[in-house]
Amino acid sequence: MKIALYPCCGSDFDVPSILLAKYAELVLFCDVKASNLREYDQWSQQHARASPIETRFSRQSVWKLLATSPKLTTFFYRRDSSGEGGSGIQVFGDEFMSLLMSKFSSIGYIISDGSNSVDGIFSQMLSLQGLERYGYFFSSSCEQPFLDEFKLHLIEVRQLSEVGNERQ
Ligand SMILES: C[S@@+](CC[C@H](N)C(=O)[O-])C[C@H]1O[C@@H](n2cnc3c(N)ncnc32)[C@H](O)[C@@H]1O
Repeated sequence: MKIALYPCCGSDFDVPSILLAKYAELVLFCDVKASNLREYDQWSQQHARASPIETRFSRQSVWKLLATSPKLTTFFYRRDSSGEGGSGIQVFGDEFMSLLMSKFSSIGYIISDGSNSVDGIFSQMLSLQGLERYGYFFSSSCEQPFLDEFKLHLIEVRQLSEVGNERQ
């Protein structure tokens, strides 16, 4: 089963579940706040009838969720910050990315606006040469279906062993 994770989602369920329908059969939303779980419960009652994609909300820290997470094929993340109201989690930073990639399938996607990137990691993923790190190769996709309307970049993620096989 193809699984997408959207951590620190707040109550941002509708658009992501539509955008992710092509990339996942199940979307795991995650946020620590109880009020977001209540909003999810309301939203999902209507959404479940209208959409083929399955969704779940996990009310816990994304660090805890990742520790027991199943294999992920897509990571979605937007509109977060280190300021007031933001999670302050350095998502595009070495500690988080190492944990995330330890749970990632060999081929997948990141869909993000690059919130909470440190040391230029997100920019490096988007650069012409891409980024090789955490045992994976990250490169901006030729197709960018979400850039104009949503300011979200589509990044292809490949385990280095997969990239090696393609080059042979
Ligand atoms: C700025 S809001 C982003 C909301 C959402 N991404 C959007 O586009 O509307 C940051 C969210 O991160 C959540 N948060 C903070 N720490 C967290 C953690 N450790 N794990 C999961 N969510 C967390 C907060 O409850 C808050 O809803």
